Amino acid sequence: MSKKSLKSQKVCSKPLADKLERKIETLLAKMTLAEKIGQMTLFTAMWAETGPTIDRNFLQYVREGRCGSIFNAYTAEYTRSLQKVAVEETRLGIPLLFGFDVIHGHRSIFPIPLGEACSWDLELMKRSARIAATEAAAEGIHWTFAPMVDIARDPRWGRVAEGAGEDVWLGCRIAEARVRGFQGEDLTADDTVLACAKHFAAYGGAEAGRDYNIVDVSERTLAEVYLPPFKACVDANVRTFMPAFNEIAGMPCTASRTLLTETLRQKWGFTGMVVTDYTAINELIPHGVAADLTQAGQLAIEAGVDMDMQGGVYFTQLEALVNAGKVLPAAIDEGVRRVLRVKIELGLFDDPYRYCCEKREKSRVLSPEHKAAAQKAAEKSMVLLKNEDDTLPFAKNLRSLAVIGPLAESQLELLGNWYGAGDGNQVVSVAAALREKFGKSVNITTIKGCEVDDEDDSQLKAAVTAAKKADAVLLVLGEYGNMSGEAACRVDIDLPGLQNRLAEEVTAAARGKPVAAVLFNGRPLAISRLAKAVPAILEAWFPGTMGGQAIAEMLFGDTSPSGRLVMSFPRHIGQIPIYYTAKNTGRPISSDKYTSKYLDCPNTPLFAFGHGLTYTTFSYGPLRLSAAEMPMNGEITVSITVTNTGNRAGEEVVQLYLRDLIACVTRPLKELKGFKKISLEPGAAAEVKFTITAAELTFVGPDLEPLIEPGEFEVMIGGSSSVADGQRFTLLPK
Ligand code: BGC
Repeated sequence: MSKKSLKSQKVCSKPLADKLERKIETLLAKMTLAEKIGQMTLFTAMWAETGPTIDRNFLQYVREGRCGSIFNAYTAEYTRSLQKVAVEETRLGIPLLFGFDVIHGHRSIFPIPLGEACSWDLELMKRSARIAATEAAAEGIHWTFAPMVDIARDPRWGRVAEGAGEDVWLGCRIAEARVRGFQGEDLTADDTVLACAKHFAAYGGAEAGRDYNIVDVSERTLAEVYLPPFKACVDANVRTFMPAFNEIAGMPCTASRTLLTETLRQKWGFTGMVVTDYTAINELIPHGVAADLTQAGQLAIEAGVDMDMQGGVYFTQLEALVNAGKVLPAAIDEGVRRVLRVKIELGLFDDPYRYCCEKREKSRVLSPEHKAAAQKAAEKSMVLLKNEDDTLPFAKNLRSLAVIGPLAESQLELLGNWYGAGDGNQVVSVAAALREKFGKSVNITTIKGCEVDDEDDSQLKAAVTAAKKADAVLLVLGEYGNMSGEAACRVDIDLPGLQNRLAEEVTAAARGKPVAAVLFNGRPLAISRLAKAVPAILEAWFPGTMGGQAIAEMLFGDTSPSGRLVMSFPRHIGQIPIYYTAKNTGRPISSDKYTSKYLDCPNTPLFAFGHGLTYTTFSYGPLRLSAAEMPMNGEITVSITVTNTGNRAGEEVVQLYLRDLIACVTRPLKELKGFKKISLEPGAAAEVKFTITAAELTFVGPDLEPLIEPGEFEVMIGGSSSVADGQRFTLLPK
């Protein structure tokens, strides 16, 4: 790396950075080509694999100095044993780097990232990443393959579960929070891990919502929608990046020099390391851009890939490529430098075992403090989608409650997917949490009624009988944890199996009594049928280790729902992709026939981005602008009074949306540009203020560079993206 690019690296001071670079060069000078390639090689240990295992001899390769990083290995004891081989048995003793998918917690599992994003609480998300890092680091892990910052607008795609939803602005803030949470202030600390911004780029744009499928987006959409969260990660000093499996407009990301070198390094100044996704170099062959592994390896290194995850392509091909003069030794050195740099930044050369510590492992993992934080996160992630006649919270003086549904007694399912080293036995099911909460004072009967996804209706009758007998009914419905996540896409995103029928029959049988549904799922579902059947729906996502307890507290009003959707819930799958930043089109919807709409479904979603009810109500006063005009370098303040008009305390997410009315390219009808989460006692009011500056008004211009244009803007503030009325102001020319 040149001295110039070092300057943009905020990891350490100049003298320290110089020292670091000298250390790298000294080491590099001693290394053989095979050892260098070893540093660019990552193999999986035999736990938690997510793809084909190419080569199981990783330990032998470590011993030979031909494998410098391992993933899917953890516990202080196991990682120490592997580290010992690298440090004590290899010629140069270069420490191993241990990676793992610590996606939403390590052992104390937090809600899936999509759920947690619904908290709209950046501090909470940062803290949950911090805790995940603390637990993982205590078990020998140096590096997490997270956060996933792919904007996703197609809920058929299973990996929406791992991201922060559909919105670019919010996605950027969440990406920064998560990177800062994982990496902390000081990478050498024993409780911080390298973060990895993935999957670069536009993986969320997989055609037809099918995982790994091609992506064909315009350069504008790439620049406006998919790239900004990655840029936000670079600005937050993320130290590693992972190219996506997919192609974009004909070029697989793993072979894209435009993305990995020109955009990432040259334009954005990224100084960290790029690791492929699982066997992604090998996949350049089926993609059809490489005839064989040799060509695949060459394409990847030319694009700017520093480390090969699990494919063994660098491992088997690079030496020959260098010898044949097809890859320059300098290109290898550059990749090795980037790998060594992050190892040094972690402090591994000072103490290779600093992350493997049984004592810390014991005290940090699943600590009461971490579990309490996981419960808080579960609470804050839940979104009350519907609550007719204040069905929820249930009255505490109920004598009996029927808990019905295939997930009522589930433990493991509450962890969702990608739950790292999480353990289903640590989870208390919803039914068990309710039993624990009430002891004998409420008679709780539990019955499945049906399975999640089969057609056996033999239990329905018993469920209906239980509903008739109880004072109130709780339905616990949804998806299995493995119905979302990687390689878990669905074409029909309604509730699977007989669950709608169960909900309908049970609700009909319980007429006149409170009936509410809790949902566990990893994506927005198309639940028009359920929403018609039941009066109340609490979206709990996959809430993690402490989800059961968090739900029990919320159902009875000991806590209150405060989450807001970060992804639209369609009325029907035919509306997909559906997102609130829609454009007007030349024929905006109206009662005229020849306008942009469907014959058989409204354009609006069932539940909009930003939507979420509480146990109280809020009213918004008139919106006040500090001026009708804003100078180009000035600012404007917009304020509004929000009042809690109900009988309970509650939290409101006050959302600021902007629309650029006329611009040189078409602009969305509204875009989120700020929010404040406030807490109000009954009857209390608060004035909420936002400052709008040039930053909020800047967009991607015709040349794909940031542009700000004078003209009229509309500002809207409300409790969801459905907010309609705004006020206008004019941005003056310079
Ligand atoms: C996923 C990545 C993950 C990797 C390692 C891949 O299949 O796409 O997100 O980090 O596996 O487990």
